[in-house]
Amino acid sequence: EGSAVPKHFLTLLDLGRDDLLRVLARAKELKKLRGTPAHPRPLEGKSVAIVLEKASTRTRVSFEVGVFELGGQPVTLLAKDTQLGRGEPIDDTAHMLSRFVHAIVYRTFGHDKVQTLAKHSRVPVINGLCDRFHPCQLLADLQTVQESLGTEDLRDVPVAWIGDGNNVSHSWILGAALLGLDLRLACPDGFFPEAAVLEMAARAAREVGIDPKIRVVRDPREAAEGARVVTTDVWASMGQESEAAARARVFEGYQVDGALMQRAARDAIFLHCLPAHRGEEVAADVIDGPASRVWDEAENRLHAQKALLEHLMR
Ligand code: CP
Ligand code: NVA
Repeated sequence: EGSAVPKHFLTLLDLGRDDLLRVLARAKELKKLRGTPAHPRPLEGKSVAIVLEKASTRTRVSFEVGVFELGGQPVTLLAKDTQLGRGEPIDDTAHMLSRFVHAIVYRTFGHDKVQTLAKHSRVPVINGLCDRFHPCQLLADLQTVQESLGTEDLRDVPVAWIGDGNNVSHSWILGAALLGLDLRLACPDGFFPEAAVLEMAARAAREVGIDPKIRVVRDPREAAEGARVVTTDVWASMGQESEAAARARVFEGYQVDGALMQRAARDAIFLHCLPAHRGEEVAADVIDGPASRVWDEAENRLHAQKALLEHLMR
């Protein structure tokens, strides 16, 4: 195969605004085509490795099923059972895997590990979540927002992120920059999103001629006011298990409950990347109530990632 530099997907900025919109539009088409004879099989004869150093349910199933439905063969590696788990270097793993497979999905801790894998891989590398970003989640979330609002143009749509300024929040920030969302993040002191990510977002927005509307506040009510989308995530992410009790105290007051949803727009939707903890970051009556779109959101992982694979592996 050629030595051209492969297209990677480490953050949403790797797609950019135009390709992000294209992938989202294609995800919508693939959703309609699912199970019909017109569904494409562009991965016929190709394999995709899914390398997981952290737990996963949705990412694993959506990629395995997605690769299969596109005509390809998924190969899932739970890192603890591999030589990677015994200390084989990431760069060696990249060289070796890219002789076998045609793309690699990688879920790990440090973003630098995803970058190292990409640097040494001859085939596209997809970030399947790291400590700093979860770009695949945002493809599904943005698709869900488009579906719920009935429009592909998300400029100025008010979105409230409540809680931890974590990997998923960082991907919301980059998505907001590319698509012009009016994103308000309510986070307690010490748990704001990284300044470096806000800077990446500001730069990316300027490059596509968008006036970025991304604000970090402390008060969840301020963020939720008039929002069309309210979203949150766990208070302790994978790798932060030992901080869970301390975090639960800090995030008290950051639960998305009925009272907070009342401040949002009347037709506001609730999103959560899942897994969720009812009674912690979200009240049961919100996640299980009429505003919740979490099952559509989870399903859209499949459609959005199929569109992504098609785009990167073309
Ligand atoms: N939302 C998400 O990525 O879920 P998993 O951890 O189950 O893959
Ligand atoms: N922020 C969470 C998302 C899980 C899909 C984590 O990193 O554990």
